[in-house]
Amino acid sequence: MIDNFKAYVVREGKNGVFSGQIETKKFDDLPPNEITIKVKYSSLNYKDALSSIGNKGVTKKYPHTPGIDAAGIVVSSKSEKFSINDKVIVTGYDLGMNTSGGFSEYVRVPAEWVVRLPEAISLKYAMAIGTAGLTAVLCIDLLNKNCGIKNSQAIVTGSTGGVGSVAIQLLSKLGAQITAVTGKSDSDEFLSEIGANTILTRDELVEKFRHPLSKGIYDIGVDVVGGEVLSGLLTCLKRNGAIACCGNVGGPDFSTSVFPFILRGNRLLGVDSAERSLDQKESLWEKISDEWMLNDIEKYCKIIGLNDLGFELRKIYDGKQTGRVIVSIDD
Ligand SMILES: NC(=O)c1ccc[n+]([C@@H]2O[C@H](COP(=O)([O-])OP(=O)(O)OC[C@H]3O[C@@H](n4cnc5c(N)ncnc54)[C@H](OP(=O)(O)O)[C@@H]3O)[C@@H](O)[C@H]2O)c1
Repeated sequence: MIDNFKAYVVREGKNGVFSGQIETKKFDDLPPNEITIKVKYSSLNYKDALSSIGNKGVTKKYPHTPGIDAAGIVVSSKSEKFSINDKVIVTGYDLGMNTSGGFSEYVRVPAEWVVRLPEAISLKYAMAIGTAGLTAVLCIDLLNKNCGIKNSQAIVTGSTGGVGSVAIQLLSKLGAQITAVTGKSDSDEFLSEIGANTILTRDELVEKFRHPLSKGIYDIGVDVVGGEVLSGLLTCLKRNGAIACCGNVGGPDFSTSVFPFILRGNRLLGVDSAERSLDQKESLWEKISDEWMLNDIEKYCKIIGLNDLGFELRKIYDGKQTGRVIVSIDD
């Protein structure tokens, strides 16, 4: 094995400002875990942006290599479960938070974080999905179990972002009628192409849906925004409707009353994908590689290299990315 490798490293400057650059690292710099993976692709997630600006709720110690997702090939294994040349995926757990992450030619992780790549998909497809996509799959799996998807009226917030855009593609495949909520005035074409039937601006949503209850319009919702957007969503569900709540880009606090719950039997379903058990993650990966496969997803992804990370991380932090971003490590 070679001695050195390239990685994107975030450091804190003397002025307290965090910035990242590509550096050469040694294998000894990697944590002493069981599985070493040559990373082929990673992907961009909102949490990576937080790690890259020094958010201590995500990453406590710097210098640090972010990247909560990695897909690649096993180059050494101390676990009987994996052999050299196995194709694998790692998403979530502590990868890219306080464990050196996927914006790197190599990662070294515990065997219990590693999912074998399902045969039907490529490493690139796996990272087109990534944590954001897997979270969307988890939201829709929960909504399917609670309410059903086919012919339902669905609403998705943060709809041009990672979780939102995968949620729309999957809901569309499963036969829902989708309202996409967005803050971007120039995204109608993209949203229609990925499967949205109606587009609502964020301001329209907040204006239209008022406490304590508005007209019940939607059966299901996927919310990545929180804040006043979630407050609005909770007023406009039909009887027995449910919202999968998975993000807080618009703020962690929201207000509601008991009425959606006691008069309409509505449910708010909490979603945490990063710490799901490996069994659960494996079954979600099987689903998105088989009956829920998104054949066109790569068409809606941007591919970048390690060199582009500084700019692209800032863009996702500012809420300006559209669709999923794959990081090709060899580029
Ligand atoms: N619970 C979990 O397991 C889990 C897993 C993955 C992600 N998440 C969370 O889900 C959220 C989205 O992640 P992501 O990777 O999809 O991020 P993303 O790609 O940046 O997408 C977020 C989208 O939300 C909208 N948005 C951005 N800033 C906003 C603001 N201030 N107010 C309202 N809307 C705003 C934008 O879409 P529009 O312009 O179209 O509105 C943006 O594209 C984050 O909070 C992330 O931490 C949670």
